[in-house]
Amino acid sequence: MIKACIFDLDGVIVDTAVYHYQAWKRLANELGFDFTEHQNEQLKGVSRVRSLELILGWGNVSKTPVEQTELATRKNQWYVEMINRMQPSEILPGAKEFLQTAKAAGLKTALGSASKNSATILERVGLLPLFDAIVDGNHVTASKPDPEVFLKGAEALGLNSAECVVFEDAIAGVQAAKAGSMKVVGIGSPEVLTEADLVIAGLHEMTLEKLQALDLLQK
Ligand code: G6P
Ligand code: MG
Repeated sequence: MIKACIFDLDGVIVDTAVYHYQAWKRLANELGFDFTEHQNEQLKGVSRVRSLELILGWGNVSKTPVEQTELATRKNQWYVEMINRMQPSEILPGAKEFLQTAKAAGLKTALGSASKNSATILERVGLLPLFDAIVDGNHVTASKPDPEVFLKGAEALGLNSAECVVFEDAIAGVQAAKAGSMKVVGIGSPEVLTEADLVIAGLHEMTLEKLQALDLLQK
């Protein structure tokens, strides 16, 4: 029986990809090359450190580990400045409503995000009280598609994998949920999130009926 929902943050609850894009673009431009929105797409669900490695590769720029730490810190400062100004109106359609519906139905909720800034974001948009557990980039060592973040989410709720459904917009995130033997609802397009058990355009399309139907799916 499904007892909990574990949500990715960026692209599922809020759309912070635009802020990541602006901050990475500023960094790339300072280093002398451009950074496109298409490249930004490939960084969804990818940790900050790994994102920087990919960006430096695209720009054909090589930096020492110490310089890389400094660059990642600089990008994060710009990013934090932007998320500190986020408003509740930036919550994606249906996200707050579905969280409330799930909690009212007695389901547990957890966050399973690669971001180390998740608490700031949830606080800013006023969603922190709707989560029973937060597992993010500060608590894991392995990145998605490794299932660690979702397994720790289930553990924090005192539940097993079969009792949790994951909501994810990134291919690596869908793979992480599957690797953790969890049902997964993809947020986005079915052509991209081919491994998800169900794909919806956003949480505004989610219902408790669809959630419980996943329980009966063998996949
Ligand atoms: C999410 C985003 C990624 C981001 C990662 C780390 O997974 O989709 O684009 O790089 O979090 O975020 P952070 O806030 O820790 O830099
Ligand atoms: Mg995401």
